[in-house]
Amino acid sequence: MKPFYITTPIYYPSDKLHIGHSYSTVSADAEARYKRLRGYDVMFLTGTDEHGQKIARLAEKKGITPQAYVDEIVAGVKELWKKLNISNDRFIRTTDDQHVKAVQKIFKQLYDQGDIYKHVYEGHYCTPCESFWGEHQLVDGKCPDCGRPVELAKEESYFFRLSKYQDQLVEYLESNPEFCSPQSRLNEMMNNFIKPGLEDLCVSRTTFDWGVPVTFDEGHVVYVWIDALSNYITALGYGSDDESDFAKYWPADVHLVGKEIVRFHTIIWPIMLMALGLPLPKKVFGHGWLLLDGGKMSKSKGNVVDPVVLCDRYGVDAIRYYLLREVPFGSDGIFNNEALFNRINSDLANDLGNLLSRTVAMTEKYFDGTIPAERESAPLDDELKTLAENVVKQYESDMDEMLFPNALTQVWQLISRANKYIDETMPWALAKDKAQKPRLAAVLYNLCEALRMTAILIEPAMPETNGKMLAQLGLSHQPWDALVWGKEETYSVTKGDALFPRIDIPAELARIEAETAAKAAAAQAEEAASNAEPIAPEIDFDTFCSLDLRAAKILSCEPVPKSKKLLKMQVDLGIETRQVVSGIAQWYKPDDLIGKTVAFVANLKPAKLCGVESQGMILAADHGDAARVLFLDSELKPGSTIR
Ligand code: ME8
Ligand code: MG
Repeated sequence: MKPFYITTPIYYPSDKLHIGHSYSTVSADAEARYKRLRGYDVMFLTGTDEHGQKIARLAEKKGITPQAYVDEIVAGVKELWKKLNISNDRFIRTTDDQHVKAVQKIFKQLYDQGDIYKHVYEGHYCTPCESFWGEHQLVDGKCPDCGRPVELAKEESYFFRLSKYQDQLVEYLESNPEFCSPQSRLNEMMNNFIKPGLEDLCVSRTTFDWGVPVTFDEGHVVYVWIDALSNYITALGYGSDDESDFAKYWPADVHLVGKEIVRFHTIIWPIMLMALGLPLPKKVFGHGWLLLDGGKMSKSKGNVVDPVVLCDRYGVDAIRYYLLREVPFGSDGIFNNEALFNRINSDLANDLGNLLSRTVAMTEKYFDGTIPAERESAPLDDELKTLAENVVKQYESDMDEMLFPNALTQVWQLISRANKYIDETMPWALAKDKAQKPRLAAVLYNLCEALRMTAILIEPAMPETNGKMLAQLGLSHQPWDALVWGKEETYSVTKGDALFPRIDIPAELARIEAETAAKAAAAQAEEAASNAEPIAPEIDFDTFCSLDLRAAKILSCEPVPKSKKLLKMQVDLGIETRQVVSGIAQWYKPDDLIGKTVAFVANLKPAKLCGVESQGMILAADHGDAARVLFLDSELKPGSTIR
């Protein structure tokens, strides 16, 4: 069997896993399943990228070790991939002992052969992106990738001689245009990064220790991207005692990656491999992003969409279908509930679901579920058959190029044609005429054939639906070779549940809106509660009465010279006039206060503020970062006791 090695990016467990990450992994899964169906010996790798400063900081913030932090998240990642029916053959964690050892070996080899050298690094570092940037690369002083602030970094570090391999890389990329898809991304890399001149890359850090230790220099850990990229070969046993999988599967057939990390996969990774004397992967496929109206999904922006919730609510295959169908090759797509529901209702419930349920129902009604062998064919049948055969060819070339939306569009052409075939042949009319029984049998047989082929073609995208369809058609698993029209002799069908329940779109949208609002309110309440000062310990009434609180009328008010915060006031306490100083100048002008009656602590020991004596205190309450004076009813006589 021909090997086929496909990888996803290994997920960085800082943000919550969202539907955008699922897009990468579901796409790779569809391709892996397709290749298995085509008879390849597939190795499908996914995993987690667990080192780096960002992870260390997140763990610290939570008060746990980085290892405990990643262990918990990785468990959730594995669960999600299971839920999404991801058929990965291997799951690598960059904290795996074998990976760590292999990375150390790689680093040492590159050092020994002079491709890595020690030097003092001075420059900028974007912690969220784990990327180094030169001064000239910054955009408005910020990270050119994510727009967030960068930090100054100065440390003794190891450097990787990217510059040495510049010409070799340019030559390789120019003579292997299929190395990167879409090609536009490669042109972008060439013009923006490679041609202007590659700078040597800082590949070790000393300011934190959550990483792969450099074996020959204590205190240094390997730069997280060198660590992460190596996963593609360490997962195959490279650098271990058993390199048989490496020998079998390397070079990879395709690294599937999001567009923002194409740079690492078309510059650093090929150069690492060149330096190690290893063959380069056949293809780096850079997909677009799944956006939410107006921006990329990210937890920090508070707009993540939870794939677990989506799967539980609408079904795994509906979500998989939507992801594969909605984002065109290489471009970005917008995730939108309404678009999802429309796809579910029209493509899945109506087109596909109804085709199956009508066909099965009519076969049960007219033939007790079993189509007889003697049939009559007609020219309309050839049209359906020819279309099916063309769809298979086109689907094949689309799937070979990982053009999932195109491949699925092909399948839906077959589905639409089959639905139209029902309208054209009108089985219910044929059923009224006994003489037409053989024709009716032929019509239902053709519909079953169209459904059988559809089931095979949707297997990579919707494995669960494939099984449900075949069960209703009375068939077991179908291999790719079975994509031949007329292969089944006869059909014995059994009605099952609807493949995809229809969604009441306005009701569902209203429900989501209400739920979102309730969540936002709960989050706000939680935040308010976490910011609030706890209630002070209990006191008895006498303690309270020891405070002499009075109504006081402000007679005059002026700023305290040289102080931005203080106002000096004369207040009428009925029996006497007091001078009081209050730190409220940022929020009140003297005119706002003169003539007003306020709550006043009359028995507070006098104190000097900025050299001015204050004989008491005006009460005010926190108002966010500001303060608000407790104004009283102006009818209250100055000196009235408050209790
Ligand atoms: O980049 N739409 O990990 P990661 C589509 N650890 N794809 C998206 C997306 C979105 N909204 N958001 C994220 C890393 N992704 C590195 C990889 S590989 C040696 C190291 C994709 O967790 C993103 O483009 O930040 C990337 O391909 C993958 O999810 C993992 O992202
Ligand atoms: Mg990322």
